[in-house]
Amino acid sequence: MLPPAGPIDPKYVSLKLAEPDQAAEIAGLHAKLFNPPWDTANVQPLLEAPAAVAFVARLGAPPQTAGFVIGQVAADVSEIISIGVAGDWQRRGLGRILFGAFARAVTRAGAKRVFLDVAADNTAAVALYSALGCTEVGRRKGYYVRFEAHAVDAIVMTKALA
Ligand SMILES: CC(C)(COP(=O)(O)OP(=O)(O)OC[C@H]1O[C@@H](n2cnc3c(N)ncnc32)[C@H](O)[C@@H]1OP(=O)(O)O)[C@@H](O)C(=O)NCCC(=O)NCCS
Repeated sequence: MLPPAGPIDPKYVSLKLAEPDQAAEIAGLHAKLFNPPWDTANVQPLLEAPAAVAFVARLGAPPQTAGFVIGQVAADVSEIISIGVAGDWQRRGLGRILFGAFARAVTRAGAKRVFLDVAADNTAAVALYSALGCTEVGRRKGYYVRFEAHAVDAIVMTKALA
């Protein structure tokens, strides 16, 4: 069953810790959302890393891959490496749900802070992180190099975790 229109009630979301054998599923969604896309070989090592913390979100029956978050935690610091929500499910609260799941998991593992990089022209992601209380702490000039496009700065953002 699909969730009704409007904000997604978390009870409709199957949110599972992502294991390395979900690399192809996550790469399939990543490729629809990012330039350059990642393939399974890019995603798998991120999920295999001892410090990895990652979730995949599925919705509907049969389940569709609706979102993912991949990051890592080391001592009291954590980092979101990538987060994405499928186009059909965007702007319905799933990004918030994924960020929240990641923040809870890394907090349990001892993290006191989360860091992330976001492309300066990615207004949706900057808005998401700002709405979640992340603030800018730096910039990396020309960090994102895209196929047949100009390089874009990365904004480094951070948030203290409760
Ligand atoms: C960024 C992304 C993950 C957001 O996921 P999402 O599920 O659509 O986000 P949510 O519905 O949880 O949005 C939460 C809040 O973020 C902000 N926001 C999210 N998308 C926005 C948009 N397109 N424009 C403006 N604000 C936006 C809003 O404040 C929103 O709250 P509101 O809907 O109550 O106003 C999604 O757009 C995405 O996957 N984009 C492509 C991949 C990507 O760029 N990932 C981030 C890389 S750093």
